[in-house]
Amino acid sequence: MTRFGLKLSASLVALALVAGGPAAAAEEVEVLHWWTSGGEAAALNVLKEDLESKGVGWQDMPVAGGGGEQAMTVLRARVTAGNAPTAVQMLGFDIQDWAQEGALADLNELAASENWDTVVPAALQRFAKHDGKWISAPVNVHSTNWVWANKKIFDELGIAQPNTWDELVAALTKIQDAGYVAVAHGGQAWQDATIFDAVVMSVGGPDFYKAAFIDLDPDALGGAQMTEAFQRMETLRGFVDENFSGRDWNLASAMVIEGKAGLQFMGDWAKGEFLKAGLTPDQDFLCFRFPGTDGTVTFNSDQFAMFSVGTERRDAQVKLASSIMAPSFQSAFNVVKGSVPARTDVSDADFDACGKKGMKQLAAANDAGKLFGSMAHGHAAPASVKNAIYDVVTAHFNGEFDAATAAEELVNAVDAAQ
Ligand code: GAL
Repeated sequence: MTRFGLKLSASLVALALVAGGPAAAAEEVEVLHWWTSGGEAAALNVLKEDLESKGVGWQDMPVAGGGGEQAMTVLRARVTAGNAPTAVQMLGFDIQDWAQEGALADLNELAASENWDTVVPAALQRFAKHDGKWISAPVNVHSTNWVWANKKIFDELGIAQPNTWDELVAALTKIQDAGYVAVAHGGQAWQDATIFDAVVMSVGGPDFYKAAFIDLDPDALGGAQMTEAFQRMETLRGFVDENFSGRDWNLASAMVIEGKAGLQFMGDWAKGEFLKAGLTPDQDFLCFRFPGTDGTVTFNSDQFAMFSVGTERRDAQVKLASSIMAPSFQSAFNVVKGSVPARTDVSDADFDACGKKGMKQLAAANDAGKLFGSMAHGHAAPASVKNAIYDVVTAHFNGEFDAATAAEELVNAVDAAQ
């Protein structure tokens, strides 16, 4: 049956069950998101089923494209046409931009009754609240400075977990020399930028990362350390296969899963793919922080921004927000998604080894002042700046500039974008 058919029959059933006029239509949420890979869809299903068990229908509005750029373009068109979805998967500064435009709903009543202020960490509230109002419900915390490695290949070649940049390069050389693809990568701007998050952190540590991507300090953006970061990107470029251009991130994950490639640099949504394929951490695959970034976490948090909708859709919207914030849901969802809960009071009991590690490291980085928003995933600077950085990083990765020129271009691009 078509989606329309399903929706129609659900509404008819509701009408048959509930007497009354138009106000008696089935409760339903329309949700725009970019969770279309196997692991992502499996996680989203946890939410759909949770809502359906509460009698709330789910109208799916998927827009494929990792990182969500395409989804944000579709959203703009929908809102411009006066037809905003009920809720939209969104990252960091984008949420604040929509709040600034006055497009988002006020969730304060629900947030107060469920104590969101005390269970959601400040780093997420900074994006989930605007002018004192809760406007979105954070579903998780991902982080971008992870490596996902094929354990069989590592064992076969006698490679130990690399802890420094030099050890990483030595490991990649060994993998490549053995005839495997060393780095499974998809040449898309957001994926290049995801690696760049980790590389910048590995070159200059937290102070440099913050100065460059959060403070947008021209000295950091254009200095010697940034040139070195671009040189490291060139080194990594030497370890990808010739078909990397345009490849989706989950297909790159599949190369590691299938034993064709040694490792992937990617946020922990990649773990969702490994789990979906039936693989087990520490047994089939390894998860460790990008060498040289230990102790630091570059995070992004998927949130569902709630749009101002008419009163007839408001109840279902509040139910959606409440479901997302429930501790049991935060555990069930994030176990599948690869991320960790957005609440600080959720037990790690149901999480696998990588999840437990992720939760511990997130808390430790937060306590040590070493938790920073991911540039690549919209948590360090607004979209205009993020996109300007994307352009330079990708142009350089594809050989348009040398490292020193790229650092200069970065200063100019960021300046022009502000
Ligand atoms: C990120 C998002 C993740 C994951 C990834 C790839 O921006 O936070 O949940 O979906 O994109 O699509």
